[in-house]
Amino acid sequence: MATPIAGNVQRSEAVEAVLEELLASMTWEQKLAQLQIAFRPRLEDAKDLARGGIGAVFWPRSAEATNELQRTAREETPHGIPLLVGLDVVHGQRTTFPVPLAQAASFDPAVAGADARISAKEAASGGVNWTFSPMVDVSRDPRWGRVVEGFGEDTHVNSVFGAAKIRGYQGESLANEDSILACAKHFVAYGQAEGGRDYNTVDVSVQRLRNVYLEPFRAAVEAGAATVMAAFNTVSGRPAHANGNLLTELLKEEWGFEGVVVGDADGVVNLIEHGVAANLGDALQQSYAAGLDVEMGGNAVSVDGVALLSPGDVSSERVDDAVRRVLRLKHALALFDNPYRDAALEVTAPSAETRLAAREAAEKCLVLLKNDDGVLPLVASRLRVLLVGPYAESNDHLGAWVQSFAEPAGTLADSIQAECPDWSLTVKEGTGFFQEDPALLADAVSSAEQHDVIVVAVGEPSSLTGEASSRSDLRLPGGQEELIRAIAGTGKPFAVVMFNGRPLVTSAWIDSAPTVLEAWHLGLEGPAAVARALSGQVNPGGRLPMTFPRSSSQVPIHYDHENTGRPATVSARMDEDVVDVALMGPGNTDDRYTSKYRDLPLGPQFAFGHGLSYTSFGYGQIQVEKEELALEDLREGRVFRLDIALSNTGDRSGDEVTLLFIRDRVASLAQPVRRLRAFSRTTLDAGQTELLSFDLGWSDLGFWDNQGRYVVEPGEFEVHIGGGLENNAHTVVRLT
Ligand code: GLC
Repeated sequence: MATPIAGNVQRSEAVEAVLEELLASMTWEQKLAQLQIAFRPRLEDAKDLARGGIGAVFWPRSAEATNELQRTAREETPHGIPLLVGLDVVHGQRTTFPVPLAQAASFDPAVAGADARISAKEAASGGVNWTFSPMVDVSRDPRWGRVVEGFGEDTHVNSVFGAAKIRGYQGESLANEDSILACAKHFVAYGQAEGGRDYNTVDVSVQRLRNVYLEPFRAAVEAGAATVMAAFNTVSGRPAHANGNLLTELLKEEWGFEGVVVGDADGVVNLIEHGVAANLGDALQQSYAAGLDVEMGGNAVSVDGVALLSPGDVSSERVDDAVRRVLRLKHALALFDNPYRDAALEVTAPSAETRLAAREAAEKCLVLLKNDDGVLPLVASRLRVLLVGPYAESNDHLGAWVQSFAEPAGTLADSIQAECPDWSLTVKEGTGFFQEDPALLADAVSSAEQHDVIVVAVGEPSSLTGEASSRSDLRLPGGQEELIRAIAGTGKPFAVVMFNGRPLVTSAWIDSAPTVLEAWHLGLEGPAAVARALSGQVNPGGRLPMTFPRSSSQVPIHYDHENTGRPATVSARMDEDVVDVALMGPGNTDDRYTSKYRDLPLGPQFAFGHGLSYTSFGYGQIQVEKEELALEDLREGRVFRLDIALSNTGDRSGDEVTLLFIRDRVASLAQPVRRLRAFSRTTLDAGQTELLSFDLGWSDLGFWDNQGRYVVEPGEFEVHIGGGLENNAHTVVRLT
């Protein structure tokens, strides 16, 4: 019986027979050598690895060099087993797409699919056959620098976008020359690191682990992910790299994952620092025994074939299982037939087509946070535009996790010149990322007087985002806040454009900025996308995939929170002799014993799902085909069908993201006040109406309990559908 291995690969008896024969002829050391990946910057050293029988290497930067490594493996080893060739192709290879967090802001999984498919083609042409992407770590803490690499705070968004990338990377068949193995990472709950501090401790209940952090990996396995990467962190005391409950009992046995579990860089070695392994041999033994298949570091067997583990340290069944998993993927990639790539066909630069795809993706990721007074779009002709800020002439748009050989981006100033030729543009840096220069500030302010509108281009450099880049202070670095306030002081119309890789704290200036465009790190064509949005050639339609807090100490903060027993709601009265209104400010409550900060208005600065448009949209009432269903009918596959009319009520075309949330009113475990269960992005012309339909079924209405069981309980479910988190059309459906 054929069972899926990964990426639509069906296990076949013929292949299994070949692999068994190969396995039977391998020594202990040759088997262990297949269970590691290593990096050597010098090609000759990498060849030594290949000659020593290693199973996988990091990409040596060209098709030609990769062919040399494959030839060494094929012709200079006893069994001629070809190599897996891995690389972090996270959001682009030669053509860099928006960072994954920005892609999530599009709420259009086709954006992620386009990135993955084009990236796979570019990378595979150079001999890469394995990418360590997508990262599907849910995170609710923007202090963690790696939020940039994932798809935000929502489980469903991470599930949908992760699956889209996996399908994009792996293509129709892994045997195709432009398909590469995907890798869902980091398994698991890496984004829950305490304090948002990278690599820090994770201790989480079973119900939260399953409902929030495991679900995107379950979706990844269902999407056919060929590999999964273990996380650096502990999960409730046991490091993920040596966590048998997770790697074997859950991932491989409960979910039936047939692919390969790879360690993160030195993740096995780190077990010693974690204090759970006495030495490297102990760490390796624990990891392989727990279910790790490939160790990233090359510590199991040396290039001259000396194994650190002896037979018996790890069961031969476990080792053989791991080797089978590796060999199956190599077979699925057709590497035994032909591991070589034609160097003459290697893609080494973007094309006009991939640039266009990257720009269209970038345009969909833009989020219009504010547009008071309709400062944007700048449609008047012959405008005198002043562009200030460190991102005016920075080309730091590619974002975290791009390789040194990726095509560099241009600058916003250049793109405005190209996209808006009839503007009279003046560029003044105004301030640097980090230094506060009063002279630069004064020069920018004095220039404002001679211009019709100012664009303030600020943000955080991509070097402050990504791995090992946690920040305790989420504000704009350097003197950027002062620059915004100084420009506001001129009284001239202005728009702030933010280029960042995480939610930032804007409270020091947001009230004085009438218009704010969130532009993330949008990749190669980011500046062009922003210029086209400023001039109205593009209508921003993205939404925030992560909450923007009011202060750095307001985190973790996320929309799908529990209600608590004492929720705080804004109270109009704010009785002056009860509270210090100056201290608490508007938007707070004097309902004393409720869950809140007394020195912050309630709620975030910008909520999950927030985003404006240059047009406007309206929704009808929710039409429910059947308001009540029996639990058994739902289990059998019946669904609640919900329809709602969406209209473009403005004067220009635009995209609307529609979000469907539920709230399980009463359940055996406290449920989030909102849970996103579906979303869609619709393009409508002015005046156009479209009927949207959503189905809610068994897998949408239940949750995992602390015994690891998926349960759907009878009762009432609120359904909220609309363009954001609040003020949506809503109805109630019942399960009996
Ligand atoms: C890094 C990252 C991981 C990456 C790996 C290989 O430490 O944690 O995401 O895939 O090393 O570069």
